[in-house]
Amino acid sequence: MRRSDLPDGFVIGTATASYQIEGATREAGRGDSIWDTFARSPGVIADGSTGDVADDHFHRSEEDVALMADLGFQAYRFSIAWPRIQADGTGAPNPAGIDFYRRLAESLLERGVTPWATLYHWDLPQALEDRGGWLSRDTALRFADYSAHVAEQLGDVITDWITLNEPWCSSFLGYASGHHAPGLSVGSASAHAAHHLLLGHGLALEALRGLRPNARVGTTLNLYAVEPAGDSEADLDAARRIDGLSNRLFLEPVLRGVYPADVLDDLGETDWFAENATDDDLRRISAPIDFLGINYYSRHTVAAGSAPAGAAGSASAYPGSEHVRFVSTGAPVTRMGWEIHPDGMLDVIRMAHALAPELPLFITENGAAFDDHVEADGGIDDAERTEYLRSHFAAAREAVDANLPLRGFFVWSLMDNWEWAWGYSRRFGIVHVDYETQKRTPKRSAHWIAEFLRA
Ligand code: FCB
Repeated sequence: MRRSDLPDGFVIGTATASYQIEGATREAGRGDSIWDTFARSPGVIADGSTGDVADDHFHRSEEDVALMADLGFQAYRFSIAWPRIQADGTGAPNPAGIDFYRRLAESLLERGVTPWATLYHWDLPQALEDRGGWLSRDTALRFADYSAHVAEQLGDVITDWITLNEPWCSSFLGYASGHHAPGLSVGSASAHAAHHLLLGHGLALEALRGLRPNARVGTTLNLYAVEPAGDSEADLDAARRIDGLSNRLFLEPVLRGVYPADVLDDLGETDWFAENATDDDLRRISAPIDFLGINYYSRHTVAAGSAPAGAAGSASAYPGSEHVRFVSTGAPVTRMGWEIHPDGMLDVIRMAHALAPELPLFITENGAAFDDHVEADGGIDDAERTEYLRSHFAAAREAVDANLPLRGFFVWSLMDNWEWAWGYSRRFGIVHVDYETQKRTPKRSAHWIAEFLRA
């Protein structure tokens, strides 16, 4: 597989997120986000760490831009930390926060790397969580206001925008299983967060369109290939439910302007949505986007029956479907326990394409955690990650060959970073980070990609 197997305009980039790499959480007027608060609570992060330092990218962005440019990436997807722009989620934008992202975007442009900015990669200002967070409709309005400030201040140097990253995670890991910030478990009412996030997307889209007519705006969903373990009716129903909550609850309102009735029924939330998800909301949520971002990592295979309590990917993040069990197929998994299934990338691309045949699609994240060993000579021979990426690039090529409108691929992640509830214990980088010294060392996977991009 070579670069030339993909079309000329096919974008190959790499991705990160603010809280996972920036550190400097108390500098330059930044306020607390829900992740600062959550990470400080005892027992919620695997290694007890916080993102206070992370990759110290806030102070090393020049070096990191040089690194990605030298590897040959054409685009860089990063996220803007809302509490750097508005410490408490309201009011005038903080010049020091704007400055940081302006310098970042400018140095990317100088190096020929196109900046792709995500407006929300999970760091909600804590002050807004204190007022109800995403369970409150007002948060969507605050997000629109924040997005308008960012568009005004940075829309001259950034053209490609992603409103939300993975609203499924924000809604159901944040407010149902509680594995993510803000760590709440409100059951099916967590679906209200999903609606408010999507409304936030629609309002931010409107703001960007109004202020920056040339902006290209999309949103990013984490989609899963979902398979029933067997062909019993109960297993098929389990697959329908999990596909419904993970995929259709987000795809259908954005691409078709309707919520899937069966999913609202599974949740017991039909009445709430009838009252609160107005036609006007759905018109905004489904306003035309320029592309859809898809984060693809793995496949779910599900059966009827209860999961062991607290199991990763367990039904606690699927309110109303607690009787669904996630089963292992015996296929190889990454260090996250996520099954390696490159063909599933085609499944999710087809899933989105079927709902919006004209819409350009991008894989906005794909990558893998494995345990890395630094060799005596300092090298990191991450053969498994290299193979994971190679097989997923091959899946992307298959999509293109099948005439599916896949237009780009972003590798998660440029460098090892703070992996949410797993802290520093899971490494996704193609560049190794020594957290003691902050030294960056490209792994074999990075060398492979650099060669691929050059060829
Ligand atoms: C995705 C997140 C990203 C990273 C990867 C491994 O769900 O968007 O921040 O944690 O998983």
